[in-house]
Amino acid sequence: MSFSPILSEKIQEQLGSGPVASKRYWSEEYFVRERERIFRRTWLCVGRGADLPNPGDYIVREIETCGVSMLIARGRDGVVRAFYNVCSHRNFKVVLDERGTATRFTCKYHGWGYDLEGALKAVPDEKNVPGLDRRRCGLTPIVLDTCADFIFVNLDPKPAQNLESYLGDLYGRLAAFDVAGWAPFFSFGALAPVNWKCIADNFQETYHFNFTHRLSVPDRATGPGNAIGSPVAFEFFGIHRSLSNWGNLQHEPAPVEGVAAEYGRVAGRKWRDGAQAGPRHPNLLSEAYSLFPNTQIVIAPSRMHMTNLFPLDAGRTRWRTTVYYPRAKTAAERISQEYSCTFLRDIIAEDMSVFEHLQQGMRSGAKDAIYFHRNEILCRHFAAVTDEYVGAAADAQSIR
Ligand code: FES
Ligand SMILES: [Fe+2]
Repeated sequence: MSFSPILSEKIQEQLGSGPVASKRYWSEEYFVRERERIFRRTWLCVGRGADLPNPGDYIVREIETCGVSMLIARGRDGVVRAFYNVCSHRNFKVVLDERGTATRFTCKYHGWGYDLEGALKAVPDEKNVPGLDRRRCGLTPIVLDTCADFIFVNLDPKPAQNLESYLGDLYGRLAAFDVAGWAPFFSFGALAPVNWKCIADNFQETYHFNFTHRLSVPDRATGPGNAIGSPVAFEFFGIHRSLSNWGNLQHEPAPVEGVAAEYGRVAGRKWRDGAQAGPRHPNLLSEAYSLFPNTQIVIAPSRMHMTNLFPLDAGRTRWRTTVYYPRAKTAAERISQEYSCTFLRDIIAEDMSVFEHLQQGMRSGAKDAIYFHRNEILCRHFAAVTDEYVGAAADAQSIR
């Protein structure tokens, strides 16, 4: 059976089929608009409640795109809150590590202290700080909301949409993920010399599998009847989108992979009944959700990973991937998780190997456009949504 994903004519028509301007991947002017009109205004997924499961747990997220360090803490009441990680005294960074557990946040510069809810609680020699009103000098809050334990923040103090309407139909899909109790297992990332949208695009198409991943993926994600690894399905959720990866049921596992699949769970080849909420297909391997603007969540039976992209400028992006698993009940499950995590790391390393050359080629000015394959339809959708946000469609002359 030859295979091609279902895509409505209407969506094809809306998204068009022509080349797309490559300048949008390297123009500093375009990036400045992205920063101001997207990263400062939209809901950004920055983790999961499971990253800070207990009262007093905290994580720090650097939103370098906007020059913001963010402290996210679970209060004594169990509520997760986000704050600018900035002291009210002389604006030093209050928390310098990436994660931990605390009963109070004490600034290392002069010792001002804040409770888990952000209130200013301690000021050394307070009587000699004239004009201080403690009630007005707590940590500055950042708008935060959650969907199914996914934590979203918005740097706009008055977001145009609440989280539910921003996510639209994706809200229900995320809420249907059967991931309760899954915990972060491993996190890795780097600074990549490439535009953030190039990384996002790479993770929302499968056309590169046979080439970039020629030694690792083809027997798993391409095969009889699907030589290029076309996804099982594409779905569109307003400004967000997803694809469902096709898996080769005749895949012959490597020896270690076979052991991991046999005795553990996460390296298994088949989607287990009732595991997740997305569309079903006999070859369904995993679902990859691209949340506008900068997050991808890939979910498979007993494994989920999230990648966040934060551009520093038009040609550099800080990326981070965190892998989540259910708690292993046996040593075999743990080994299976380790295997799966290592495999994922290697695949992502292969992906990262292309970016430097991609950015250099785009930036050279040799070409003014790129051409998307039909299987890169999510990239085309992402380009259209981004253009809409930055106003490029209405201001074509200055950007294209
Ligand atoms: S800047 Fe934090 S205590 Fe001085
Ligand atoms: Fe890849």
